[in-house]
Amino acid sequence: MAKPQVPGQIKHYLQFADLTRAEYDYLLSRTAWLKERFKRYETWHPLHDRTLAMIFEKHSTRTRLSFEAGIHQLGGHAVYLNTRDTQLGRGEPVEDAAQVISRMTDIIMIRTFGQDIIERFAANSRVPVINGLTNEFHPCQVLTDIFTFVEARGPIQGKTVAWVGDANNMAYTWIQAAECLDFQLRFSAPDGYQLDRARLSGAALNHLMICADPRDAVKGADLVTTDVWTSMGYEDQNTMRMKAFKDWMVTEELMALANPSALFMHCLPAHRGEEVSAAVIDGPQSVVWEEAENRLHVQKALMEYLLCGQISATGSPV
Ligand code: CP
Ligand code: NVA
Repeated sequence: MAKPQVPGQIKHYLQFADLTRAEYDYLLSRTAWLKERFKRYETWHPLHDRTLAMIFEKHSTRTRLSFEAGIHQLGGHAVYLNTRDTQLGRGEPVEDAAQVISRMTDIIMIRTFGQDIIERFAANSRVPVINGLTNEFHPCQVLTDIFTFVEARGPIQGKTVAWVGDANNMAYTWIQAAECLDFQLRFSAPDGYQLDRARLSGAALNHLMICADPRDAVKGADLVTTDVWTSMGYEDQNTMRMKAFKDWMVTEELMALANPSALFMHCLPAHRGEEVSAAVIDGPQSVVWEEAENRLHVQKALMEYLLCGQISATGSPV
């Protein structure tokens, strides 16, 4: 069912802003359909014979597993590549690697460092490229978090999401999502770890409130979310960060300020006693395990969409 890719019309997913609200509406309902089908053990192979290349320049558990299992469940298969044992780690230009890998596979997922790397790769790829995390963005995770919210609580439009922690790839992706899907994002981080204003558009600022005090960010929020204080690639700053962020832990006291029906999410892996207390992540408002599982369903919908376009509920292309 996958359609041949037409050069110049290939859809990549390099950041959240790459898709429209209408496309997200489709993907959210398609994810629910695929998840339900998966739970009933029903076979669905729109990507029969298709190959996903997964390129990892950083560690991963969830991203690797969810993409690999996901393409398999859609009828295709995955090839895992990393920089340790391919020519990618020996200086082969990204542009050359993209030309070659995209001639042998149908879709590519990359986890790397700078966003410029994935952009250069996509510019030279004959097939769709998906961002599996860069220093700047983690769109598959935020799309999953939004699906998880919608599944539990209904539409996210008009809701308030509190981000407590680092101005990292997750935070900037949430900012793009708030603008695209029309909800409010409250951001709180310590001095010295604020958002880079140069990366925020005027439209993004309409959906963003920056709070010096994490309690102000969380007050009345419908979703409270955080992430590690030290992202991959920034390990040399770890000691400084542990000190700077110590008052930004999501605790039960902080959660008590949110809407009583608020959910807690974390993209994982988590550090209990640092960015979140054990009582919160293992507590009743936490949906982190459902959130982790949903990576599988969301990315199946995404891969299907990038290769097949929209498909009706009965299975035929729209
Ligand atoms: N949340 C996430 O992307 O997890 P991994 O680093 O395990 O892939
Ligand atoms: N912000 C974290 C997310 C890990 C899934 C990192 O980039 O390391």
